[in-house]
Amino acid sequence: MIKPLIAGNWKMYKTPSEAELFALELKKIPQQNDRDVLVCVPFPALVGVSRILKDSGIFVGAQNVYPAKEGAFTGEVSPLMIKDAGASFVICGHSERRQIFEETDQFISEKVKIVVDCGMTPILCVGETLQQNEEGKTFSVVESQLKIGLQHISSSLINNVVIAYEPVWAIGTGKNASPQQAQQVHLFIKRVLEKIYGGSSTMVRVLYGGSVKPENIDELMSQPDINGVLVGGASLKIESFSRIVSFKKN
Ligand code: 13P
Repeated sequence: MIKPLIAGNWKMYKTPSEAELFALELKKIPQQNDRDVLVCVPFPALVGVSRILKDSGIFVGAQNVYPAKEGAFTGEVSPLMIKDAGASFVICGHSERRQIFEETDQFISEKVKIVVDCGMTPILCVGETLQQNEEGKTFSVVESQLKIGLQHISSSLINNVVIAYEPVWAIGTGKNASPQQAQQVHLFIKRVLEKIYGGSSTMVRVLYGGSVKPENIDELMSQPDINGVLVGGASLKIESFSRIVSFKKN
């Protein structure tokens, strides 16, 4: 049985003080043992939010990392710094980083590797653009992003990785993939993982991201191969995020 993961990605929202106030609200959400909850916060908020959520059972993560333990990389943040600040997860290769900052699959694979090497869990994001979707390239794009993104991860470590399928056309647009469409791609992702890792990848969590909201969470989570969600906009308000965290399968 795979334990679902409900993850918030705050993107570049909330100052450290706003983030800490939000963390105090998060702590009040009744925790359920059959699911994990995570918030991926901006770097400056990591220390404060981690302190507040320390004994709450809610995990804290970062949204990016530079793939080196230390060095002359002005403006970058290392995995050791992130870990020491209290994070146990790191989002790698979000489509906004691929598109706006031109991150390549190769570069993302180095991030995935160093995050695992440092004892944290990477959330490797994959997903096709609208154009790729319309050209029928969803499966080939996702397969290639997975193969390259995971190229440094051996079978013994694959269960320390989370995959997030985020169709780019569904992010921040209000247009989510239908639960059935998402299920189809999730099943495909599991087959690709099985092709690479054999039986070792059966416990890997595959999350869906892209306009997840209180109105669609129960149906998304009712799909057999959707093992959680990565939530942007709806994770910024306590009412919507607490409803998402308390999903019920249909
Ligand atoms: P939205 O939930 O705002 O569509 O964002 C999804 C996302 O990018 C999560 O990483």
